Amino acid sequence: MGNNMRKLCENVFALGVKDQKRKLFDALIPLPDGTSYNSYMVAGADKTAIIDAADPMFVREWMDNIRETGRKPDYLISNHAEQDHSGGIVDFIREYPDAKIVTNGKCREMLMCLLHVPEEKFIVVKDREELNLGGCTLEFYLAPWVHWPDTMFTFLREERVLFSCDFLGAHYASDDLFVRDEQLVYRSAKRYYAEIMMPFRPQIRKYLELVKGLAPKIIAPSHGQVYNRPEFILEAYDDWASDRTRDVLIMYVSMHESVRRMAEIIRDELESQSVTVKMLNLTEVDLGEVAMELVDAEAVLLGSPTVLTGAHPAAVYAAFLFNALRPKAKYLGIFGSYAWGGRMVEQLAGLVVSVKPEVLPPLMCKGLPADEDKTKISAWARELGDRMQRQG
Ligand code: FEO
Repeated sequence: MGNNMRKLCENVFALGVKDQKRKLFDALIPLPDGTSYNSYMVAGADKTAIIDAADPMFVREWMDNIRETGRKPDYLISNHAEQDHSGGIVDFIREYPDAKIVTNGKCREMLMCLLHVPEEKFIVVKDREELNLGGCTLEFYLAPWVHWPDTMFTFLREERVLFSCDFLGAHYASDDLFVRDEQLVYRSAKRYYAEIMMPFRPQIRKYLELVKGLAPKIIAPSHGQVYNRPEFILEAYDDWASDRTRDVLIMYVSMHESVRRMAEIIRDELESQSVTVKMLNLTEVDLGEVAMELVDAEAVLLGSPTVLTGAHPAAVYAAFLFNALRPKAKYLGIFGSYAWGGRMVEQLAGLVVSVKPEVLPPLMCKGLPADEDKTKISAWARELGDRMQRQG
């Protein structure tokens, strides 16, 4: 093995690359902490397997890492066909023509479609099938919908290492192979969960039980650092994916102060009832922050001014995200201001179709809130606080 190889445990090495320059993932998700495309080598006595490839932008670096091991891979285990983990496969099979791509049927279908990998290159495995490398046994667990239909986990039985693919990962670039600062990683992992995993909460809960049953000593995801204390990330996921809710999220956009003042009156009233309130000005935060705050919110209150007879585009985006990310919020309230009319409420409410929170009566003010408006706004917020308390 090369001198720079990073060892996870006996027979397992990290070959991944880190990416600190990319600004957006999927041309959508901001990456404030960068990311990494993790790949691993499992070196058995007889055979060598690489777990996942790398993003197309980093294929050269990833291939260099494989060469540096001095071992000729027999297999590439593809846990997931998305290009950030499969982009290097075409180069890999060119350099190692005798190697086979080991994956499940759905992932094979997607790799053939997305990368035009020839069918004869594959060995297709089923759920719980095994592959023996000589003293290293890989077990495969199909885990569709975290977050694509093709996903699977690979478990190295002897060393109890779980290669969990995107599941339990974080967009977090670091030189440290293992998690050192759990608090820092907690935020990145929560952001990642919110953006990518939250819409699949029922599946997440099911796979959490599967992972706990395997009792891994190490969890090696395909983004971020490796967990040598798996209970840290498993407990965090247990909490995020549970039905527990904690607070009210007010997300708003304000053009001429009216909506901001409404948001502050709502916040003050709820806080006077000892409700924890998070406020997000939608013009000052990125998608990831909105997603992250949606994880624990019991009620989401969305405020918008009326622009050209409709909602502000930032509020439209937030409503779209709310619907797409399917948070566990029990209540949704829409509030806002207008000067001469419009269909802002109908427009925002019409975007929420995939989730069914209880929708509060809309709260609207004509222009800047006057004293009688303040009374109405406080009463609206108080009613929500009372309901939340009645629900326990
Ligand atoms: Fe990190 Fe779904 O790819």
